[in-house]
Amino acid sequence: MSRFWNEKTRNIEPYVAGEQPKPGQKIIKLNTNENPYPASPKVREVLEKVEIGSLARYPETSSLKVREELAKVLGVTPEQVFCGNGSDEVLAFSFQAFFESGEGAAPLLVPDISYSFYPVYAELYNIPLKKIPLKDDFSIDVSAFEAEQGGGVAFANPNAPTSILMDLADVEKILIAHPDHVVLVDEAYAAFSGVTARSLLPKYKNLLVTGTLSKSHSLAGLRLGFAVGDPELIEGLCRIRDSFNSYPVDCIAQSVASVAIADDSWVMDNVRKICATRDRIAVALRERGWTVPESKTNFLFASPSGISAEDIYTKLREKGILVRYFNKPRISEYLRITIGTDEEMDALLDAVDEIAGRK
Ligand SMILES: Cc1ncc(COP(=O)(O)O)c(C=O)c1O
Repeated sequence: MSRFWNEKTRNIEPYVAGEQPKPGQKIIKLNTNENPYPASPKVREVLEKVEIGSLARYPETSSLKVREELAKVLGVTPEQVFCGNGSDEVLAFSFQAFFESGEGAAPLLVPDISYSFYPVYAELYNIPLKKIPLKDDFSIDVSAFEAEQGGGVAFANPNAPTSILMDLADVEKILIAHPDHVVLVDEAYAAFSGVTARSLLPKYKNLLVTGTLSKSHSLAGLRLGFAVGDPELIEGLCRIRDSFNSYPVDCIAQSVASVAIADDSWVMDNVRKICATRDRIAVALRERGWTVPESKTNFLFASPSGISAEDIYTKLREKGILVRYFNKPRISEYLRITIGTDEEMDALLDAVDEIAGRK
C-alpha cells in the first residue's frame, strides 16, 4: 500500500494468474491451460526471418493480415474480426465498449463461476455485475439468464473452470432474451469442443464471440486474441482500442499469428491429441473414484476422492506437478487440471496413486 495509490488501486482485487515456475525448475505444468505441444513449425521459419530493421517501424494497427487469415478459417469477413494483445485485452476492450458503467447502470450478467477476470474488469471499469449461480451440476442456468434483465451478458463456452459446454440452442435462447444488449461468448476453449456460436452471427447483431491463439495454437506466450462479430461491434472495439493503445499487437506477433492460423491442420492434429488424452484421463480418474464432469476443453475439472482438493494440490506440488486450485465457494473441492502430453498425464496418475497409497 502506498499513499500515492488512488481509491481504485487501493480497492481493486486483481486477477491472480496461475503460478509460473522459476527458470530451470523441473516441473510438470498443468495449471494454466497451455498447450503441451509446440506451435506450427512455420512459426520458427517466420521468427528466423525477422528483420531487425522492421522493428524500427510501428506495426499495422488493425492486424490486417491476421484478420484476413482468421476470417478464412472462421468463415467470416475481415471486417468482422478484431485482434488484440491476448483475449484478455479483447475482453477488457469489450467490457469498456459495450457494458454500461456507473451507479444505477443495468448490471452485466455473468455466471457466479466462470473466468475470474470478468469480475476484475467489471470492478476496474465500474460496471455493475450480477452473478447468476450455476446449477448444482455446474452447468449454466439458461432460464435464469433468460429471465434476468441486464445491461449485457458474458460467459465462457465451454465454461471455465468447469469445462462444461452449453448447447448452441441455449446460447441462442440467451441471445433472444437480450436483443438490445451485447452477449459476449468467450470461446477460449471452443477448438476442444468443436462447437462455436459463430454460426449464429448472421442472425444476431448483439453476438460477440472472442477467441485466442493461446490454447489451440500453442501460442500463449505470443499474446494474440480476437473477437468476431457484426462490423459495427468491431468498430466499437476499434474506438476503445484507439483511445487506449493503437498498437496492441506487435509486428512479430502479427507475422507469427498469420502463419500459425494458416496451418490449421497442425493445430487440429494437436487439438485431437489433447482431446484423446483428456478423455482417457477423465476415465482413469473416475475409475479412482474422482468426480469429473464431461470436459469439452483442454482441462479437467475434477474432485478427488478420499482426500481434499487442497491437500492433493499441495502433495502434487511437492512432487513437482502443478495443477490449479481455487479456494473459492462451491469449487473448493475441485482441481483444474490442464491436459499435458500423455507422458505428463501418466506421471500425474502415478502421483495420484502414490498419494492415495495405491503404489
Ligand atoms: C475463459 C478464458 N477466457 C480468456 C482467457 C485468456 O486468454 P488469453 O491468453 O488469450 O488472454 C482464458 C485464459 O486462461 C480463459 O480461460
